[in-house]
Amino acid sequence: MEIFIDTANIDEIRKANDWGVIDGVTTNPSLVAKEKGKDFKTIVKEICEIVHGDVSAEVVATDYEGMLHEARVLAKVHKNVVVKIPLTPDGLKAVKALAKEGVRANVTLCFSANQALLAAKAGAYIISPFVGRLDDIGQDGVQLVEEILQIYDNYEFKTKVLFASVRHPDHVKQAALIGADIATCPFKVIEQLYRHPMSDSGLKQFLDDWAKLGQQIK
Ligand code: E4P
Repeated sequence: MEIFIDTANIDEIRKANDWGVIDGVTTNPSLVAKEKGKDFKTIVKEICEIVHGDVSAEVVATDYEGMLHEARVLAKVHKNVVVKIPLTPDGLKAVKALAKEGVRANVTLCFSANQALLAAKAGAYIISPFVGRLDDIGQDGVQLVEEILQIYDNYEFKTKVLFASVRHPDHVKQAALIGADIATCPFKVIEQLYRHPMSDSGLKQFLDDWAKLGQQIK
């Protein structure tokens, strides 16, 4: 499973990328808005120079022509840009037209299996079901991802399934268990993936015992 980082913060991206586990990046308008005062295209370009994988950048137009225009502008920033398009009738129409031009689309804000079916038929490169946001309203986000994986498998759709809106490390484990192609995680969750109290206490014990020896490894 690929692990993406879900942020537009350059420091977080640089740090997680240095750890060697990041395969790509997802951003959205809310995440970009947190990086006050920075030009959007400059942020996207900078991210693409740090992480050598897919980088999702979202359009903000809501009409077909506007989305096409913004998608083409964003796709020109770097060859790794995947344009994020919202799941609406105009959005999927734009996805279809962009696919013909070779522009890859990540269809975002997916909350149902039928929406995911339509996105795949339109030629989406990635579908992003928002698991955490469904969990937040008492629906089963993981089950949605399972349904999408089953439907895509039934009809051999090539669209990648991206487990989005990750809230905690257990979401990442669930994504891997059910076979999602990608999980996109906030920086905090990526950090948490490394952590186990027994790893920390075990290491401390090893180092304390070693210190008593007074030896060095040379
Ligand atoms: C996905 O690409 C989105 O940016 C993201 O996962 C949304 O998550 P949120 O529900 O934490 O905003």
